[in-house]
Amino acid sequence: MGSDASVLFREFLRDPVRVGAIAPSGRLLTDVLARVVPRDGVVVELGPGTGAVTAAIRRRAPLRQLAAEVNPRLAGLVAGRWPDVEVACVDAADLGHVLAGRGVGPVDAVVSSLPWAVLPADRQRAILSLVRDALTDDGCFTTYAYVHALWAPPARRLASALSASFASVSVSPVIWANLPPAIVYRARRPRRDVTA
Ligand SMILES: C[S@@+](CC[C@H](N)C(=O)[O-])C[C@H]1O[C@@H](n2cnc3c(N)ncnc32)[C@H](O)[C@@H]1O
Repeated sequence: MGSDASVLFREFLRDPVRVGAIAPSGRLLTDVLARVVPRDGVVVELGPGTGAVTAAIRRRAPLRQLAAEVNPRLAGLVAGRWPDVEVACVDAADLGHVLAGRGVGPVDAVVSSLPWAVLPADRQRAILSLVRDALTDDGCFTTYAYVHALWAPPARRLASALSASFASVSVSPVIWANLPPAIVYRARRPRRDVTA
């Protein structure tokens, strides 16, 4: 099958828009993302790809972990490598059904690698609203954005949608060691009064 880098690159060539990255996230970025994961409870990962973030979450805590990955080859890879992780080969927009189907109540953390910069505004809003509804009141949502694309409208839309959906949003320093460099958003205190 090849290294994770070659697997993700091959999937990128097949479907560049949906895969959204030519290489897996680096260890520094994945460790910062996993920092919001509590020692126990339930975490949901969106877009595990070849599992760089999945591994960081497993290193942090052996808690219940679900993952939604739309690409069947990548979903199969992650499921085969981490049998303890409940991998659903679905669009993140189906998160509500996945959680309900497995009898999972509110979750403690959602860690996303979705390529927000290529998601249309309505898809961004719909997925964020599902995430917000899935979290406990003190749950945390975390995701990253590439620094070179921060000026672009989809990235700016994500930043303002996060502020509209969560009462507290913080941004990490730039993780320059990642290729490409990235920042991490941490969003807490989901606003229950927002409809979209
Ligand atoms: C940028 S890659 C990140 C891979 C990995 N988590 C990492 O950080 O190295 C984005 C992943 O999200 C998946 N993806 C994109 N859109 C998705 C969606 N709507 N629902 C679920 N997964 C999606 C892609 O197939 C890909 O595996």
